[in-house]
Order: sequence, then structure tokens, then C-alpha cells
Amino acid sequence: MTPSDESHVPTGSHGPDGGDEGQPWFRLAEGYEQARAKEDSLDRLVEWPAQRRLLGDVDGRSVLDVGCGNGAKLAELVRDGATASVGVDISGNFEGGPAPGMELLRGDLSDLESVPGLTGRMFDRILFLQSIGYANDPVRTLRAARTMLADDGFILLSRTHPIRWAVERAEQNGTTLGEEYYSTVPYTYSHSAWNDQVSLTKRVYTVSDLLNLFSAAGLWIEAAVEPQLSEDARRRYPHKQAWMDKHLGILIFRLRPRF
Ligand SMILES: C[S@@+](CC[C@H](N)C(=O)[O-])C[C@H]1O[C@@H](n2cnc3c(N)ncnc32)[C@H](O)[C@@H]1O
Repeated sequence: MTPSDESHVPTGSHGPDGGDEGQPWFRLAEGYEQARAKEDSLDRLVEWPAQRRLLGDVDGRSVLDVGCGNGAKLAELVRDGATASVGVDISGNFEGGPAPGMELLRGDLSDLESVPGLTGRMFDRILFLQSIGYANDPVRTLRAARTMLADDGFILLSRTHPIRWAVERAEQNGTTLGEEYYSTVPYTYSHSAWNDQVSLTKRVYTVSDLLNLFSAAGLWIEAAVEPQLSEDARRRYPHKQAWMDKHLGILIFRLRPRF
């Protein structure tokens, strides 16, 4: 599996056979979780451990996980002491239901304010792990999240390194890295490890776009990380190191309200 990427779907992504227009995740969720659960998935080896480290101690903290997938990461945080926590995902693919101490809600992150169950709630930590790219208007979504942050709260956000997409498109189109990195043409692709019958269309972005997004949402970057495989994982999974050497991986940010 490649890193768990996220993609903006502005006008509706669709499988080649139609169906679920505008909402590919109803059909992708199961495949995504199966790929993520594999022993050598980069989410298990690199992403979640790094996200977890940057999140720090959650004991007694309330956590909102936006685009939470099946809720497994949130359940782990609740086992680590998080309280009054909520996961939101559009797919509703909540296998096994919520663990005690957490709720799982079906909802759209493009309209966080309208998700029943979030009204009037505040959280110490808000997570966007490979999910902000699905917002129709990411500035609006991050601003909405910012209003739900308790005092001293922060947002943890991870996103696929934009170089990854540029590398893939340069290979496909026979162009150069720079041409693709700075291209503004949306990228449509299917993810063979998740479900090759479903295609996603993403708005491409640069590192500057990401920084400007945080700024426009009134957030500042307290810490940023570009996680890599451990020495041990490099030896055990050389094919994953080869993938990382070419595609770089993900970026993770800890974001705090600017004022
Ligand atoms: C790449 S997965 C990441 C899942 C999880 N956060 C993780 O780190 O493993 C993206 C998730 O975003 C969810 N998603 C996509 N569009 C969404 C939307 N409009 N509102 C809420 N969730 C959405 C998908 O259903 C999927 O669970």
C-alpha cells in the first residue's frame, strides 16, 4: 500500500461504471481499511506512529477525528485515556461500532458546523489525518474546526507530500517533476490497492498552497514533520523504503489558532 493519501473531489469523482457520483468513499472505504491493516502498510509503519508522536499525551483530552475512517485510530486514543471523543466520516464504515468513551458520526467535513452531534462541542485535539483534501473549501473547514478548539487546543493535520503526485504524473505524462509540481490541472487516478474500479479526482497543490491554507484559516504551524521508516523497518521492508525514496511520503503539522 502507498501512504494513505487524500484527494480533493470538487465536482464529483466516480467509478468508471458510474454510481456514487460525488462520493467515491462509499465504495473505497472497505478497500482502504484492508490495505491500511496490512503488516507492511506505510500507515502502520510510518504514518500513524508519527501522527501519534506529534499528538502527544491524550490522557483526559477530548479528541475529534475528522475523516476518521473506521474509527480504529480514535479507539486507540480512547484506550490511551482520551475522553468524550468523536469521529466523523462520510462513509459510515464504522466496523464494530464505537468503543466505550467515543461516538462515531456519519457526516461531511465540508459542512462540519451542520454535523448533528457536534453542535456546541469543544475539543482539545482535532485530527485531519489524510482527510482535509476532501473538503470542498478547506479554509472554511479548518476555520470551522478552529472554532471547536478548547483553550490550549491544537489541530493535527497530515497530508500527502505534493511531490508524490508530481512524480506519478511526470511518469505517466512523460513530463518533468517541475512541470507537474506547478501544474494546476486536476489529477484523476484510481488506487489499485484500495479499489481500482473507483477513480478520484484531486486538485493538485504545492507546499506553498498548504502553508497559505493554514494562514488563511488563522492557524500557525507549531511543528512540522516528514516521517520516515525506522532503520529496522527499512531492513524488513526494502520495497517500502524504495517507495519512500521515490515519493517522499506525508507531511504532518501541529496547528494552533493564531489569535
Ligand atoms: C485516506 S482516508 C484516511 C482515514 C483516516 N483518517 C486515517 O488516517 O487512516 C480518508 C477518509 O476521509 C473520509 N472522507 C472523504 N470525504 C469525506 C467527507 N466529505 N467528509 C467526511 N469524511 C470524508 C473517507 O471516507 C476516508 O475515511
